[in-house]
Formats: sequence, structure tokens, C-alpha cells
Amino acid sequence: MKLKNLILQMALVLCAFNMNAELPVYLDDSKPIEERIDDAISQMSLKQKVALLHAHSKFSSPGVPALGIPELWTDDGPMGVRPEVLWDEWDQAGWTNDSCTAFPSLTCLAATWNPEMAALYGKSIGEEARYRNKSVLLGPGVNIYRTPLGGRNFEYFGEDPLLAGIMAAEYVKGVQSNGVAVCVKHFAANNHEWNRYTTNSIVGDRALYEIYLPAFKAAVDAGAWSLMGGYNLINGQHATYNQRLINDILKGEWGFDGAVISDWGAVHDTKQAVEGGLDLEFGTGTDGLGSKGNPYDNYYLANPYYNGLVEGKYSEDQLNDKVRRVLRLTMRTAMNRNRPFGSINSDEHHEACRKIGEEGIVLLKNVDNTLPIDLKKIHTIAVIGENGIKRMTVGGGSSSLKAQYEIYPLEGLEARLGKDIDIVYERGYVGDTCTHYNNVWTKQDLSDPRTPEQLTADAVKAAKGADMVIFIGGLNKSDHQDAEGCDRLSMDLPYNQNELIEALAAANPNIVVVNISGTGIAMPWLDKVKAVLQAWYLGNETGNALAAVLCGDVNPSGKLPYTYYASLDQCAAHKLGDYPGTPRHDPVEGDIIDMKYNDDIFVGYRYTDMNKIKPTFPFGHGLSYTTFEYGKPSINRKKGSVDDKFTVTIPVTNTGSREGSEIVQLYIADLKSSLPRPAKELKDFAKIKLQPGQTETVVFEIGREDLCFFDDKAHSWIVEPGKFEAIIGASAADLKGKVGFEIE
Ligand code: GLC
Repeated sequence: MKLKNLILQMALVLCAFNMNAELPVYLDDSKPIEERIDDAISQMSLKQKVALLHAHSKFSSPGVPALGIPELWTDDGPMGVRPEVLWDEWDQAGWTNDSCTAFPSLTCLAATWNPEMAALYGKSIGEEARYRNKSVLLGPGVNIYRTPLGGRNFEYFGEDPLLAGIMAAEYVKGVQSNGVAVCVKHFAANNHEWNRYTTNSIVGDRALYEIYLPAFKAAVDAGAWSLMGGYNLINGQHATYNQRLINDILKGEWGFDGAVISDWGAVHDTKQAVEGGLDLEFGTGTDGLGSKGNPYDNYYLANPYYNGLVEGKYSEDQLNDKVRRVLRLTMRTAMNRNRPFGSINSDEHHEACRKIGEEGIVLLKNVDNTLPIDLKKIHTIAVIGENGIKRMTVGGGSSSLKAQYEIYPLEGLEARLGKDIDIVYERGYVGDTCTHYNNVWTKQDLSDPRTPEQLTADAVKAAKGADMVIFIGGLNKSDHQDAEGCDRLSMDLPYNQNELIEALAAANPNIVVVNISGTGIAMPWLDKVKAVLQAWYLGNETGNALAAVLCGDVNPSGKLPYTYYASLDQCAAHKLGDYPGTPRHDPVEGDIIDMKYNDDIFVGYRYTDMNKIKPTFPFGHGLSYTTFEYGKPSINRKKGSVDDKFTVTIPVTNTGSREGSEIVQLYIADLKSSLPRPAKELKDFAKIKLQPGQTETVVFEIGREDLCFFDDKAHSWIVEPGKFEAIIGASAADLKGKVGFEIE
């Protein structure tokens, strides 16, 4: 028997070898990718090379059909795989096999402060993209939360470059473990939606290197295979082919070996695109809502580029570098026969969705132990608010999804509590009754004939008759309410929710507010409510995740990834910056909007610290159903060189009666520097789970990268000798202790 097996195995090996022996090198994935690329390039005509560099449908580029090099299929988005669209349209194709898992918004993922959750998220969404045969997932978005008005804040990881970078890096590795490329976006300094196609972000190098680039660099260092150039201009040139950004920094200083893909319609000029480092052009000729009349041959990197090459205007070396990068992207994905096969709408993905949602919800306020709901005292709950029943996996723009299902908050509460207590629902207000987004139908009819007065009266009546009120409101990813292409018009809740919350609180002081949003809102009623949860767009498992936290099945452990300003004048982008910018006619780019980033490096807590501003809630804030006590921090040495390891330890104890997780934050203060620096900056964090009474000693290693700042004149990261402080915080404002040390 053994001999027979041996002979059989040898035959198989020979056959496999023989099979590879027939394969041309570029198709033989037993060969190194660079060798395969060289072989492919040597067989490609000029036309085939140029064709490779631009789309031939809304979301795909052609590969090299005659050589058997497959098409490259991309698809949105950062929170789930977009439903199929028609070949050259934004509109849905009407397939019936393309519903997906809608995972929580990336701001929710950031709020977990848990890299393991980011890894789980990336792996799960990567499996869904792989199953749908997408080779490039157009995400994650890692742009910094610079203003609470930013329309796409919900798609990003908050205001701090370190937190965003650490979480994005794990997401990148998770997605790409499926043989699916990420496309980290929108590179760079693309921080609001107002005039997104013509805004010229005027940003100094210190703000670029210390604030707006680090999350992208973390993603590149994690091995990102592609990056998306943003719509905006940076210091006068379009980001997606910005000499400085793409050639000098991304491909030069960072050594990025992947492909730069344009945002859809972000390309406006052949010469600039060719010389500015763009590799793959998508979406040209669309007016943002539909693509009419601009056949793919007219793309800037299509015939105009081909003709330029033939006329000798452009070098073949430059062309081959682009081709090399696109082939490398293709061989890492579509031509990689060792990729797993993925999966979609699985129990594992639904479980991941719920876990990330539960861990990302932030308990902002909780007085009189209002939460978790005490079933011994609460027998009737009035649930008020449109967001209790509204489908929110749709909307927001390109990240809109056709989720296979969505558990609404009210459904989650009824499923969890319906047997034990009475739940009464009242709409309270009518917000967005739109029935479809990008032709994804909500299958809801949210119309309501009642007047606002009647809606309020009915809600107040229900509130009066209940032991507890849970108001579920916020924003809803309709226009100006957390949506691509349009910023918020103010920080106020829409649809008169503020007045309604005040009326409900007057009717029943035992009121909990659940704010569902992806960005900060003003809370004029904060003193009148007992508890506030910042819940995000939580995806399929919204209602279950929310109910688990409200009922105490899960102890909330999320913390804010951005400063919750009380008003815009607490935000540097508005106080120092000139949002929404100044119109100017540029001789090359035409009518643009200059947006001066005068806030420079002072974004978020870096600004409120400096000006002793007390926001509604600070960066890194989040409560628990238990309590934690921090001991005194200690450090292994008071003095040392920058290459010495400084180790800070801090004991943390769970002093409450139930298990809980705490996010311990390490900030570094440089007490004296030759250039302005923030009072402190987040340089590390640790999320620890503690049983009641348990103490864990958290250890932070401080190295050069935690101490340096970017000297734009010297164009380098430097550490200046002098005194520093390691500051331990439960948030940027709740500081638990500090230890000084000196760099000699
Ligand atoms: C959109 C977005 C980008 C998206 C792309 C494709 O305009 O800016 O995030 O991936 O176009 O839909």
C-alpha cells in the first residue's frame, strides 16, 4: 500500500511540476512576484500597458486579457462590501446575492481602543470581500477628525494619529490576510466634505508629518497594497498626483511598493497624473452621481497618455513603474491562487459585528447608577426616538450597504427585555423618511401623519407613564447628518431633538439618552438627563449590542476617539483655521477653496489642553459599570540617553463589584522644546480586563519614537535633551499620575 501511495504522490508532484513547467513565468506563482512582473512587462505592448492603468467599468480595471492577466475588481467600502452596481453606473444592479454584513462604523472600532477588535474586523470584512471576488476593498478611511462638522467622520478613526494608526494597521493586516488589498483613503488631509473636489488644504510640514500622515504611514508600514488619493488639493496640487505627497513622501521616504488609485473623478490632468505618481485612474467623467459620455478611452491615463508616450512626451520607465505596481497589486490578489475563499453573512461575522459594537459603545454619563437597567425597579420603559426604528446600514454615501438584516434598537430591547417588562414606543419626531439610498431600499415606510406637536405630546405622555425613558436619537447618515459630500451645518441635533429631550426630561427625570452618530454633537440638555451613551452606527447587530450594554450583559469599555466639543469655538479648525475656507481662482486649477490649516499640530485635545478648554467630554473619556483605581506610576530610570529604554509601570485595580475593562493611556509631555509642542500627546495605551478586586500592573516602554517631534526646517524627527513627563490618564483630562525623566 505504502509503495502505491509513494508512486501516486511522485506522479502528482511530477504532474504539478509539469503543469508549472508549461506556465509562463508571469503566471507561475511558484516564482517570486518581481520575476513574474518582469516577465509580464516584457510581453506587454504599449497599448496593453496603458490600458492596465485605468478603469474600464465603474469599479474594475481590465488587466491584460490576451495574456490571461485578470481584471482587478474593487469595491467599497470600509464597513462592508457594497452591493453590485451596473457596469458604468452608481445605481444598483439589482442582484440578489450581494447582501452583506454591515460592520460598525470605523469610529466605533476606534472607540474600542482594542487592536484585537481591529484585527477581527479586518479579517471578517476581508472574508466578505474575498467571497464577493473583490481584489481591492476601498477602505479603511484614516483621515483625522479635524472638525465635528466633517461629513465622513463616521468612516474614520478619530482625532489622534497614534490611535488611528494602530487600529488601521491591524485592520489592514486582517483584510489582506484574505488576499484582498486594502485601499487606504483619502490620502491626505481630506478632513471635511464641503467643496471636497476643490478644497486646497494648505498644511505645514509639521502638521502633515505629526498629524495627517502618521495613520497612513502606519497602514503602509503594515503592508498596505494600495492607497487612494483624495479629491482635495494639498498646497496647490491635487492630492492623488501630488509630487510631494506621492513621489517624495509615500513612494520615496516611505518606500511604498503598492499602487496609488485615484478617488472616483479625482483626476483632472494627464501630465500631472503621469508625473505625480498616480498608478490607477478610476471614476473620471462622472459628475459624482452618474457617469455619462466619458468613455474609458478618454480617461487621462488612457488615449491622452498613450498618445503622449508615442510622441515621446513621457518616459517608458515611468510607465513601467506604474505597470509594475498595478501588476504587483494584481499578483498579490487576483493572481494569487493560494488565497482563502472567504465567506459572507456568517455567524462568525455577525458575532464579530456585535462584539465590536458592544466594545465600541461609550458610556459618557451615568449618575445614580441609572444604568444598567435594574429590572427590580424598572417595569415600564418608554423608548422614544426615530433612531430606535430606523434602518441605518444605508445612507452616508459610498459606504451605504445592503445589509442582510439589521436589528433596530427597539427590536434589540424588546428581544432582551420584552418578557420581563413593558416597553412602549413613541416616535417623538420625524426625521428622514427617505426609502432608498443609492437605490438600496430600506423597505421601511417611516411616514407619520402627526404634527411635531402631536408627536411630542404622545412621547411626553408615554414618558410620564413609564419608570424609565430611553431616548434614541442622533444623526442618521442622510444629507448633512453624517454623509459623504456634505458636512454638518452645525453641531446641533436635527429635527428639534433638543427640545424633545428637554420635554421628556421634564416629564420623567429618569431618562437615558442614546446618541447614535459618527461625530460629536452639542448636548444642551446634558444636565437634565441621568445617563448618556454614545452609540455609533453599529451595523447588523445594532439592537442586540445596544440592549446588551443597556441591560448590563456587557460592561461598556469604549472610550472617545475624539474630543466632544461643547461648541465649534472650542475646536481649533474653527477658532484658528478658516473653515469653510476662502475661494480663489487658480491659474492652473481654476476655482478652488483655500483651507488654511492654521490650527497646525493643535488638533483635538492638543488644542483644548493648550487653551485650558473644558469640552463636554474629553478625548479618551468613557465610563464603566465598575470603578478603577490607579496606583502611583513609577519609572525605571530618571535619566538616560534617547536610546535607553524607559519603562513606566502603573498598577490598576478594579475596585467595583463586576468585571470590567479599562483603557489606560500614556501621554508624553516635552517640558521644553525649541519648537512649539502640545502639552501632551498620546504615545501608547493598554486595554486591560480586571475581575473585581484584581490589580494588574500596566507596563509602558518609552522609546525614541515617543519623544521626538518633526522639525520641518531640518526635515527630520528629533529628540531634544531635557525634561519629559510620562503622564498616565484614564482620558486626556482625567490624569492619574505622572513621572518625570530626563534625556541627556
Ligand atoms: C467616492 C468616495 C470614495 C469611494 C469612491 C468609490 O466618491 O470618495 O471613498 O471609495 O468614490 O465609490
